Amino acid sequence: MKQYITDYILHNVERNPTGITSEAMQKFSLSRPAVLHYVNKAIEEGFLIAEGSTRARHYRLKNLVELRFEIELYPETESAVWQYRVFPHLKLPQNIMAICEHGFTEMLNNAIDHSGDKTAYIYVDQTYAYIEFFIRDRGIGIFQKIQQACGLESPQQALLELSKGKLTTYPAKHAGEGIYFTSRMFDRFVIRSGTLSYHRRREEDSDWLIDVSEHGHRQGTLIYMKISTNAHWKKNDVFEKYQDDDLRFRQTHVPIALAREPGQNLVSRSQAKRILSRFEQFTEVLLDFQDVDEIGQGFADEIFRIFPEAHPNIPLKVINATPEINRMITFVKSNAPIIPPSLKNDS
Ligand SMILES: Nc1ncnc2c1ncn2[C@@H]1O[C@H](COP(=O)(O)OP(=O)(O)OP(=O)(O)O)[C@@H](O)[C@H]1O
Ligand SMILES: [Mg+2]
Repeated sequence: MKQYITDYILHNVERNPTGITSEAMQKFSLSRPAVLHYVNKAIEEGFLIAEGSTRARHYRLKNLVELRFEIELYPETESAVWQYRVFPHLKLPQNIMAICEHGFTEMLNNAIDHSGDKTAYIYVDQTYAYIEFFIRDRGIGIFQKIQQACGLESPQQALLELSKGKLTTYPAKHAGEGIYFTSRMFDRFVIRSGTLSYHRRREEDSDWLIDVSEHGHRQGTLIYMKISTNAHWKKNDVFEKYQDDDLRFRQTHVPIALAREPGQNLVSRSQAKRILSRFEQFTEVLLDFQDVDEIGQGFADEIFRIFPEAHPNIPLKVINATPEINRMITFVKSNAPIIPPSLKNDS
């Protein structure tokens, strides 16, 4: 129980830096001095830092590991960098170590193979409760790279394609799986490049976009990954969840909001086609309507009537849809045009 209380405090203090003492008092029905005993012990042991005077007291986790270095990007060196520069400093449960190794080497490999830059900056911070990685290059920038290579109209469309998965601009040597799986293994996964940020949070299993154009243009690509030190899942759980028996990956999770340029509504068939592109590479599609209030008829018709007619084996699952969106989907599905027999025979 004692270890459990300390553990609770240390895993929740980031979320509630000023009120963690009261929170733990309530949760465990303990007096303030009793909780402060655990807090002070965590401070003595070097896990926690107290700041501010008694009334404005707040707490934060102390960094147990703090690595900062710049490396030269040579082909196929990502495993050596992990093995000699990062791994020896970390003490983590085996499942988390394996996830960190996977994410770190995949993202460093990306900087080596795709960025065009000669060096990358690496930051690793570990506290009692979590470990986080920053990998940054100043190369071409991930969204620009994809936009150019795939001939897309905007970096945002590049982000839409990337979030579907199975996207590579270097098919001779790559499969387009690095970001798809890595982003699903960590609690938080962020890409910043150009004026866009892509955030993924594991607990909500959702993708969303934050436009950071007001912060100005960021040269190159920054990857941020964070995982809790008490995460219970394994690397293979994530592979198994998204792969079928043939080891092709089967599900794509598409944030519909990404098909909309700023100031636009989702109304047109061309917007729908942007979403539908490459769907035939997947065996299951999850359409996430987070941050979308309504959709137009042409858009809905293209996705929910015409596509399923042509691809009856690819189920489309809808999540986070408003009642208006659900009504529109039902409407287009039930509103199939009556095809004259003469035309039917033609096809
Ligand atoms: N640091 C980067 N700089 C520029 N472009 C990048 C960077 N990282 C990724 N990309 C682009 O994003 C695409 C997808 O990356 P991802 O890691 O998912 O797949 P991949 O590296 O192509 O294949 P795999 O990881 O399976 O070997 C890459 O093909 C590349 O175009
Ligand atoms: Mg990769």
